[in-house]
Amino acid sequence: MSRQQIAAGNWKMNLNLIDAEKLTREVVDMRSDEYRGEAITILGVPFPFLGNVARLVKDTPGVYIAAQNMHQATSGAYTGEVSADMLVSLGVTHVILGHSERRAYFGEDEALLAQKVDQALAHGLKVIYCLGEQLEDRDAGHTLDVVKKQLAGGLFHLGAEAWANITVAYEPVWAIGTGRTASPEQAQEVHDFLRNEIKSAYQGAIAEACPILYGGSVKPSNAESLFAQPDIDGGLVGGASLKSRDFTEILKAL
Ligand code: PGA
Repeated sequence: MSRQQIAAGNWKMNLNLIDAEKLTREVVDMRSDEYRGEAITILGVPFPFLGNVARLVKDTPGVYIAAQNMHQATSGAYTGEVSADMLVSLGVTHVILGHSERRAYFGEDEALLAQKVDQALAHGLKVIYCLGEQLEDRDAGHTLDVVKKQLAGGLFHLGAEAWANITVAYEPVWAIGTGRTASPEQAQEVHDFLRNEIKSAYQGAIAEACPILYGGSVKPSNAESLFAQPDIDGGLVGGASLKSRDFTEILKAL
């Protein structure tokens, strides 16, 4: 079964408009000049730049735009928040939900994330749903229990048909922004576990088709060994996605 392979960047709260447009142009140019494969590129862009970046990529096949968050309500008195409909109107196709920084600093839990997932899907956005254990969980031998709860709590209320629009990203918190990467074997163990959980809750075909990305200090030097694992279908890349050369090398490792 060949699953969609994905190089997704998460710019987080970095760059200004000028830098964001420059980086986008570089990513697009390198993709057209150097990459002929089937993998897709997704750029996880800060809210203020989404419209500009979406315009820059709209004629480039295989490049999509993600927001890094959105609100769970359709519209209304939520000062400072951003709705799914607003994102769609800008040409955004994907939304990253449940990133560990959202969970840790903004108190997002599975009950809230399940609502955000529903709202995103109802507006035709594809979801990149993040999960991952803290270092204490891993040291205590609880990794699989933690990711199982995060996976089920955010996604297992969905009907089978919704899964065509779901990508899961396994991001061990201790590997995010630390330079410390999970070994390919550690990551593969969790990816295999997650796929089996999806298989038990739904059907084999849904689990086989769902891309599961690895995130946490992915860089050109480790991308190939991570992506060589049978259940790792690409990366969600933070720091290295801010450098067009590094991000392109990661794409080419798929
Ligand atoms: P990193 O971030 O690649 O800088 O570790 C990954 C992420 O948070 O998605």
